[in-house]
Formats: sequence, structure tokens, C-alpha cells
Amino acid sequence: MRVLGIETSCDETSAAVLAGRGDDAVIRSLVILSQDVHQIFGGVVPEIASRAHVTALVPVVERSLADAQISRKDIDAIAVTNGPGLVGALLVGVSFAKALAYALGVPMIGVHHMEGHLFATALEQREAVPPFTALLVSGGHTLLLDVEAWGHYRLLGRTRDDAAGEAFDKVAKLLGLPYPGGPAIEREANANGAARDARAFRFARPMLRRDQRPGDADYYDVSFSGLKTAVLNAVRDATSTRPLSAPTRAAIARAFQDALIETLVEKTVRAVTQFGRQRVVLGGGVAGNRTLIAAMSERCARVDARVYAPSTRLATDNAAMIARAGLFHLERGERSALDLNAFASLPLPGLAD
Ligand code: KG4
Ligand code: ZN
Repeated sequence: MRVLGIETSCDETSAAVLAGRGDDAVIRSLVILSQDVHQIFGGVVPEIASRAHVTALVPVVERSLADAQISRKDIDAIAVTNGPGLVGALLVGVSFAKALAYALGVPMIGVHHMEGHLFATALEQREAVPPFTALLVSGGHTLLLDVEAWGHYRLLGRTRDDAAGEAFDKVAKLLGLPYPGGPAIEREANANGAARDARAFRFARPMLRRDQRPGDADYYDVSFSGLKTAVLNAVRDATSTRPLSAPTRAAIARAFQDALIETLVEKTVRAVTQFGRQRVVLGGGVAGNRTLIAAMSERCARVDARVYAPSTRLATDNAAMIARAGLFHLERGERSALDLNAFASLPLPGLAD
């Protein structure tokens, strides 16, 4: 089966062609057009994102078909992100997918964006399949899940306030670094001397205490807004009499990243231990953070679990993962009707009570 995937939930216009069955499906093409225009505004402007998707989507899809060396009539099904995300941006992809599916007379399926992220790593690493513990960390979401099988998810923890990527973006802004903040903070945190200087700024690990027990509401949940405030106070103290120096900026970036990563790693290890999993799969834009992957791999090795992280290309928003999640649902006989809508928030399908 050849599935055309379409993703327009935020600021990437992406199309992909996936061919094959189940976990053996392979990426035939993947085109990701990032909307750089938002850098000027320091964050995604929804109206601009929608308009940019309108302009880009047709050429992006044509390019993905050309790269896969197929034509429109070779498409067997279409998978499109229909939530969660920016409604105007999602609607561009959803409307396009419906029109194309109708014109070609092929089935179409709406895909939950975060379920797409769950499947991303498996497209590159054949062993990144259930059962596993999943940590999805993106600009809009932070989810810790136990994945017993594809389509069978247990939500263990989530953020109480800011998503992990959002925390990176906001802290980057406080430090005068560009958007998106994640890669900029990671770069700063790796600067010479940053690790040493970060000791002066050790931030408390948010919502991480030894006395927490399974069943406690905060055992798996995370919260990053307090950490962001701690960074704000550190920046204010450091700049009360002079501008922020490069070494201080790097030290604060490092201290922030250390606190956030340790929290994510420890909460993930709790899930691995409770459910006896041997694999941890990371997903979402923040999973592109090499320091997080290294810390997670090292800590999980001590509980005999192996960590699978996607390449940067598949960690970020992309249509290949949407095609893969869509293929899973299509193979189960599911279809979306042509009245499929877009939703800013949407419950993850397959959640156990
Ligand atoms: O999954 P994604 O591409 O889009 C959403 O669905 O939100 O994630 C984007 C987020 C941004 O907040 C960005 O700052 C963050 O991922 N990010 C990173 C890194 N690369 C991207 N965060 C930390 N370290 C990185 N290397
Ligand atoms: Zn995403």
C-alpha cells in the first residue's frame, strides 16, 4: 500500500510517501518545508502559518510524489493530521486531503499528531516497536506513555503547564536567543566552561522528589513554569548592574537544560521500572536534543532498557510519521468520512482508562 501523508499542524508544511505494510513500511519520500518567517516574530503566528501552508502545500505534495517517482494515481490512501494543533493550519491540510481523496476515489484517514510522533522512530529503527515506554516532548506537548502495542496506550504523565519545548523556547527568549529555542539553548549549554559555571545556578528539579510513590498524582507529571521563573530571576540578578555576559548566558542555559533533562529522565525511568519495559522510545522536537538522548541512554542502561531516538529530521514535525500512523489505522479497516474536521485539542486514540 502507498500512503500519502500530509502534516500542517504548526509551522512545517510536510508531505511524504510511505510504501509497504505495518512495521515493514518504508519512506519513499519526505519533504519538510519549515516556515522560517516566524523567526522574525520569535514564535509561530497562526494566521501567517495558515497562509504559508496554503502557498506551500501543493508544491510540497508534488515534490514528494516526484521524489517517490510516482504519480497521483499511484496513491492508495491519504493520511492527514487533523489535530491537535493550530486549527487554521490544520484545516489547510485536512481540506486538501479531503479534496484529493475525493478526486482520486481513495480512502482517507485523520491522524492524531502525537500518535504520529510515537511511530516516527520505528520508521528508522526496526526495533523501536511496542512494548515500550514513550516520552513525547514537543513544542506543544509533554507526554509519558506506556505503549503495550500500537493502538494501546496508557497515559502516565503529562505537563501541568508548559510543554518541554515551550520551556526551551521561553527560556531562550529570556536569554536573548533566537526561536526555536531548543537548538540555541543546547548549543549554548555545550559552550566551553558552561558545565563548570552552571554550578552557580543550580535550579531545583521541578516536581521531582524522592518521597513520591506510584499512584501519587505528581509521580509521573512534570511542570516547567516554576523552572522558567527561576531562570527569569537568575537573569534579572545577573543583569541588575550590567548586560548578560556570554559565559553567564551559557551557564544559565546549561543549568536550565540540566534541570529539565534530569526531570524527564527520572520520570521516564520510573515508568520503565513500573512496567518492566526494555525499550524507551523518544519523540517530538525536543527528542532531537543530543544531551537528553545521552543522559537518557546512560540512565536507562542501568535499568537494562535501551533508548531509541529519532533522527532530527523525524524528531521534528514531518508527514512520514503521519503516513505511518495512518497506515496502522487503515490496516485496521478504519476510514475517515469526508466531513472530517480539524481540532485544536484532540484526545489520543487508544488510551486505556
Ligand atoms: O515536535 P516539534 O517539531 O513541533 C511541535 O509539535 O511542537 O517540536 C518543536 C519544539 C520547539 O519547542 C523546539 O524548541 C524544540 O522542539 N526543539 C528542541 C531541540 N530542537 C527542537 N528542544 C531542545 N533541544 C533541541 N535540540
Ligand atoms: Zn510535533
